[in-house]
Amino acid sequence: MKTDFQALRRRFPLLERKTYLNSGSYCALADTVREAINNYLDDRLAVGANWDAWILKSESVRALMAQLLGVTSDEVAVTASASAGINALASALDFTGPRNKIVISDFEFPTNAQIWHAQERRGARVVHVPRAADGYIPLEHFERAIDDRTQLVAVTHVCFRNGARLDIPGIVKIAHAHGARVLLDTYQAIGALQVDARTLGVDFIVGGMLKYLLGTAGIGFLYVQDRWIHELVPTHTGWVAQQNIAAMDIFANRPAESARRFEAGTPAVVNCYAAEAGLKIILRADPSQIEARVRALTAYCLRRLIDIGWPAVTPPDDARRGPMVAVPARNAAELFGCLTAADIVTSFRDNNIRASCHFYNTEADIDRFVAELERLRRKFAPVHPHGSATGVLG
Ligand SMILES: Cc1ncc(COP(=O)(O)O)c(C=O)c1O
Repeated sequence: MKTDFQALRRRFPLLERKTYLNSGSYCALADTVREAINNYLDDRLAVGANWDAWILKSESVRALMAQLLGVTSDEVAVTASASAGINALASALDFTGPRNKIVISDFEFPTNAQIWHAQERRGARVVHVPRAADGYIPLEHFERAIDDRTQLVAVTHVCFRNGARLDIPGIVKIAHAHGARVLLDTYQAIGALQVDARTLGVDFIVGGMLKYLLGTAGIGFLYVQDRWIHELVPTHTGWVAQQNIAAMDIFANRPAESARRFEAGTPAVVNCYAAEAGLKIILRADPSQIEARVRALTAYCLRRLIDIGWPAVTPPDDARRGPMVAVPARNAAELFGCLTAADIVTSFRDNNIRASCHFYNTEADIDRFVAELERLRRKFAPVHPHGSATGVLG
């Protein structure tokens, strides 16, 4: 069935007032997500502590997340953030042997670099895969960095700075050929792009619910492929990560048989309410139709930017692009302020304005954004735009 994105858009009241191109930072709030948070508050007023129902919420988030990733619930940990998932995973790895190398890329969000550098004290050696002259990171660069001493390749799906999407199946192939495992940070993709764990072939996935998953801050997930769960025993743990939570045993650490062993303490109950409601919207809207819609919007945005002679730094190739378009600017901070004053909500990193699209955006949103850029062009467009008409990655 064809998803009615126009009707869905009406569930996000903010979109009536703002041109909202900022889902890569934080999603617009859906009415059902707001209701879900209110339901939690009503529960607290009516019942006080309703733990039986609240635990079921966390389990519901796990099940919905598993459905979205195409995996089993036992392979999903519900975490407080992507960082919490990466830390739990890192704590279960051993870097004292010859296979102590961690390969990351120059496109990483800080947390997926800093946490690996933190493991240097435990014997890890972190190697960065650099960009090529065109700003993209081709597979050959991963081929050069990954070897038989590589334990883990930890990479982002889509770069938070420039919107470029890495060739994940290609990276997985290289990593697995050397006996290395792959952790994918899907934060800038999941909810807008389809992320099927089995198709991608990755071993671990992290992400969070506040961006394209339409939930809230303070909740994330870690997928651990079934075959690795038993071999990995996190030292970053807690009572909710135990096999029998009710045992309250203070004399031993008995990790859960499932990916729940990568969790820690009391679940963020209110965040589970919001995450559940957000995930339900995504699953009902059909992730494949969402991806097609988002892809069409970003392609349209790239074309319109070329029309006004101010090309983006995001790759034009569908396979190399996520839901965000990054536009290079002189003084991106000031340009961001001008756009905000015109009720066009974006964000900026480095010298790029980031315009991120979700299914609730329209071509008219893009037109407003591009028209405003055109108006401000003299002041903010790069004086010497680098590269060709499609620009280079920032
Ligand atoms: C690619 C990527 N990874 C991770 C994060 C955030 O991680 P955490 O949930 O630990 O705050 C972000 C947030 O912007 C991100 O863009």
